[in-house]
Amino acid sequence: MSTSPTRIAVFGAGYVGLVTGACFAELGHSVVVRDIVGARIDALRRGEVPIYEPGLDDLLARNSERLTFTLDVADAIEGADFVYVAVGTPPTYSGDADLSAVWTVVDELPVIDRPCTVVMKSTVPVGTGLRVRHRLDERGLEHVGYVSNPEFTAEGTAVKDFMRPDRVVVGAFREEDGDGVAALHAGIDAPVVRCDVASAEMIKLAANAALMTRISFINEIANVCEATGADVVRVAEGIGLDRRIGPSFLRAGVGYGGSCFPKDSLALKQLAANSGYHFQLLNAVIEVNELQKRRVIGKLHHHLGSLRDRNVALLGLAFKPHTDDMREAPSLVLAGRLLAEGANVSAWDPVVDGIDLHGVRMAETVEDAAAGADAVVLVTEWPQLAEVDWSAVAQTMRTKIFVDGRNMLDQEMLRGAGFAVEGIGRAAAGGAA
Ligand code: UDX
Repeated sequence: MSTSPTRIAVFGAGYVGLVTGACFAELGHSVVVRDIVGARIDALRRGEVPIYEPGLDDLLARNSERLTFTLDVADAIEGADFVYVAVGTPPTYSGDADLSAVWTVVDELPVIDRPCTVVMKSTVPVGTGLRVRHRLDERGLEHVGYVSNPEFTAEGTAVKDFMRPDRVVVGAFREEDGDGVAALHAGIDAPVVRCDVASAEMIKLAANAALMTRISFINEIANVCEATGADVVRVAEGIGLDRRIGPSFLRAGVGYGGSCFPKDSLALKQLAANSGYHFQLLNAVIEVNELQKRRVIGKLHHHLGSLRDRNVALLGLAFKPHTDDMREAPSLVLAGRLLAEGANVSAWDPVVDGIDLHGVRMAETVEDAAAGADAVVLVTEWPQLAEVDWSAVAQTMRTKIFVDGRNMLDQEMLRGAGFAVEGIGRAAAGGAA
């Protein structure tokens, strides 16, 4: 084990890499973050944070003396005790994870002649660690350790999730390599799950799959609620109080999006399929989510008939609040479907801007987006939407339809403001006809 400040090189200055680097610096380690995008490294050196993540700017500023940024591999590796891999693993056209950025990092590692451990933070298919191990061995780097240390950070709460996690997972081939990575987390009060590399890789994929399964489950319950006269909000409360079930991830809505769930579910589906297993439940979870994104369209048809030349305002575009991330956002599918049906689409989001949504009119305010609309659809539950004067908004609309795609607002209040209201799975609340 090394003495005096442990030196960590983090490859990748995206959401995961920056949060990992900043949090390890906060824990007292010396960190160098390496990326291949010059503009990003320049911005970080100037103290600018290239992504929107609450608390990250403070953390980077507070630990600036322990954090450096570089484009240069040799610079990053110089004296590093740990090399964290936090590069993107986007899906390929077939849905498999594209590991080319991971391989580039492994192949770029210079000859290292002292103790050092490569740590995988990126989400990778089960079996990747073993392949990296072989590649390191082939390159004469047998003494370099390999550990899987997956991240469970959600966007918007990533810093808190890293510093106060439910658990830290450390999967290693050699006990001592795992000991080293576990020790890096000293100061974090959480159980450490020690296991083999394949199991650590699977824990990450299975945790995400379990969360997605819960979302698709409650969305299907919501759809049955609509058909049978129940209210999914009460149902979720009622089942969530059962300690065996718990209350998390039981919010029905317009489906999940983001940089992880859609990508990781496809990767797990492909991983299973490549191993000869048809993961039926996961396939259903993915399909339910795709259908859920489109259900709002049916609700609008129900009230408005044809959507041709109808004006529809989308409130919130990011895949969830407190992020500017539009990856796989349900709003993209909704906007596309509405435009395809001939509707005029306006949109408001407090953070997302500059995105070209091909034919969507971006508005500065909720009021501007909704003016003259036939329907507003609450897509992302931004807290600002609770502060809007909905009576005033309703007065400016052509037809007063409100679809609350996140069951965020009080339906009685909205009805009082003059709206015909639809939620998701809220027949008993007077939502669906
Ligand atoms: C997720 C995991 O939470 C995190 O552990 C993993 O590392 C990366 O993927 P993230 O994508 O940032 O994090 O967001 P999360 O807050 O989990 O939400 C994912 C999606 O599910 C969002 O679109 C959200 O709106 C949706 N969701 C979440 C629901 O529709 N209902 C819920 O009850 C919870």
